[in-house]
Amino acid sequence: PQTRSYDFVISQVLGAPDGVSKPMLVVNGMYPGPTIEVNQGDRIVVNVTNLLENRTTIHWHGLFQNQTNYYDGTAGITECGIPPGQSLVYNFTLGDFSGTTWWHAHYSTQYTDGITGALIVHPASPPPVKFPSWDHELVVQVADLYHTFSSILLASYLSPWGIDGTAGDEPVPDAGVLNGLGQWGGGGDYFNFTLEANKTYRIRLVNTGSFASIRFSVDYHTLSVVEADGTLVQPYDVAGVTLAVAQRYSVLLRTDNSTGGPFWMRAAVQSDMFTYDEPGQNLDIRGVIRYGPTANDTALPVETDDPGVPSQPSLQDMDTAQLVPAVVAPAPPSTRQYPLTIALELADSQLFLGFMNGTSWTPLQGTTTLLQARAAFQGGGVYGTEGGSLQSGGQFMVTEDSVQVVDLLISNLDDGDHPFHLHGHRPWIMGTGPGRYIGQPLNATNPLRRDTFLIPAYNWMVIRFITDNPGLWAFHCHLAWHMAAGLLMQINSLPSKAAQLDIPQSIVSQCAATV
Ligand code: C2O
Repeated sequence: PQTRSYDFVISQVLGAPDGVSKPMLVVNGMYPGPTIEVNQGDRIVVNVTNLLENRTTIHWHGLFQNQTNYYDGTAGITECGIPPGQSLVYNFTLGDFSGTTWWHAHYSTQYTDGITGALIVHPASPPPVKFPSWDHELVVQVADLYHTFSSILLASYLSPWGIDGTAGDEPVPDAGVLNGLGQWGGGGDYFNFTLEANKTYRIRLVNTGSFASIRFSVDYHTLSVVEADGTLVQPYDVAGVTLAVAQRYSVLLRTDNSTGGPFWMRAAVQSDMFTYDEPGQNLDIRGVIRYGPTANDTALPVETDDPGVPSQPSLQDMDTAQLVPAVVAPAPPSTRQYPLTIALELADSQLFLGFMNGTSWTPLQGTTTLLQARAAFQGGGVYGTEGGSLQSGGQFMVTEDSVQVVDLLISNLDDGDHPFHLHGHRPWIMGTGPGRYIGQPLNATNPLRRDTFLIPAYNWMVIRFITDNPGLWAFHCHLAWHMAAGLLMQINSLPSKAAQLDIPQSIVSQCAATV
């Protein structure tokens, strides 16, 4: 194992990813920010300096932070946020995660403004036998793009008048980006890959966006899905892959189309959740792949109505229900079950808020729940009440002070789809379907394990995980607007152990800083 050190300097700049100038929050002046690429078992040390006018944090999405919950980077839960002008060194080992993931700010909607980057972890052990191999790797980060600063959009969204006169209508993006480049109103630019012909490329896809799902495809090429959120899956040939916000997939692509291209890569921003029209909106975002005879051309691919795969004209898009883990393993039986509802509504005609079991989350000011857990322990108690309960402040939280196999029996009562993410654990997705959860059968035989899963409107989903990782862990909708509206709850795993973690002074002192 090695130690991989990075310096992240977060600042506000003017950028123009799609040709339209806008204020952005970025790391090291770049969008997307630097890619972290490491091996499983490595130590990551990132010195983050905050040059913003507000606090900020960096969260390492999908990493477990076992014994280092305090470096999870969730504002109000594991840290108060790096005060303006100050730095924090995140220093942790990788643990069990390998595969494709990303890092992002976890403070209000800051990541919407550009604080995102890829995080690639190469596994310590080789893939299972007969798993396909690849020659080279690429990273493709897709995202929706807003021309307006996110804090302005958020204030409108939360207000009783909404962003367009209707409470609860989420801000709709203007465009999108593929590796930081998009097109709008005739401007912008195309991200280009120049590849070798007759090779197999593993494309690591990440949706680093805030609201819209994005369908990725490459004209005239088959994509073979081999990874979902760090879990290798049985190769699955598809025409396109739709990523909900914060999801990742790896796809294999053969550069063997004899016409030689160039070919469009498409990042089609999905509009099914949009409730109004954004003037001039462009949802048809492109990039270019070149190889073979046209590798050195600069011309763009020709326009076509039929970008399918000629050799397999009937090829369908990926259906997540068809994803099967490459290594089949049963889930352990659950020892605890918690019904959980998801809803969004205008509360007291004041603010549009997200609710989990009827309670909405607001970040703590001046302390964190992890520090509260420590204080409770030092006072001779245990933080939280065993089971599902309302914590002080009124929010629903699940607490287990022993190792349990927990089922969250989730019913989405909202008319929108929600990509939920659980920190610090890799849950089994036990089942999903229409309506509320009333005891429908679950798949304990070969469930997929992934950290970000889309719970469709008016559907149920059951996820299972083991409370063996001490700390306070966020469980939330990853749509930036919903996270900021409080559609988030905490899992309080082993609070007696979490209270004894060696929380660095640099984290504790953040909370006392006046900003
Ligand atoms: Cu991608 Cu709570 O995080």
